[in-house]
Amino acid sequence: MAAAILFAPVAALGKNEIEEPVHRINTQKKIVALTFDDGPDPVYTPLILETLHKNGVPATFFVLGSQANKYPSIIRWMQKAGHEIGNHGYEHHDLNKLTEQQVYDEIKRTEETIRKIAGVFTQYYRPPGGVITHDVQNAVQTTGYDLIYWSVDPRDWSLKRTAAVIVNSVKQSVTPGDIILFHDGGLNQKQTLKALQQLISELRSQGYKFVTISQLLHEAAS
Ligand code: NI
Repeated sequence: MAAAILFAPVAALGKNEIEEPVHRINTQKKIVALTFDDGPDPVYTPLILETLHKNGVPATFFVLGSQANKYPSIIRWMQKAGHEIGNHGYEHHDLNKLTEQQVYDEIKRTEETIRKIAGVFTQYYRPPGGVITHDVQNAVQTTGYDLIYWSVDPRDWSLKRTAAVIVNSVKQSVTPGDIILFHDGGLNQKQTLKALQQLISELRSQGYKFVTISQLLHEAAS
């Protein structure tokens, strides 16, 4: 019985496929996924969660395991509020300098941290800095995670970017099926927070709906 169960998934995994990142999906539906990296941050992540709650918007947070360990209550808040928790590794390392095993360990250590805190398994990985090496691809493939990138990057982490610039940058490039990259951890979250409310209102008025990464990928598969 166990053997039958073991054999089936091997074929389904497509062992020889190289792990390619998902930037966006092709769809006619006006849906986009808001994603936030590098948190949780003790000040700004709660404020972002409040804004999302006020607007009834789900998002995906690619958290760092080290930050999650420091602020577990924020992780539980994300989970209870119906947001998706993605995996951004344990520390924000330069992946060019890590071996396959080290990348794998970063992912699994974060997975275990989130599981202990919130009782959920992360299944999406976004590499710090968007760095994808052969070792990263192999490590992600071993974990069975999906590698998630983005298609809209307002560079909200940059101290040169005001909320207005962030809003305009997204408005000008957004299309159905996009994955939008924000940061709830970093140095410029005050502008990110301000931009978020404006963007939610603006994109809603254009007919956009907000979905998590799971929901977006589900749409791509259907
Ligand atoms: Ni990051």
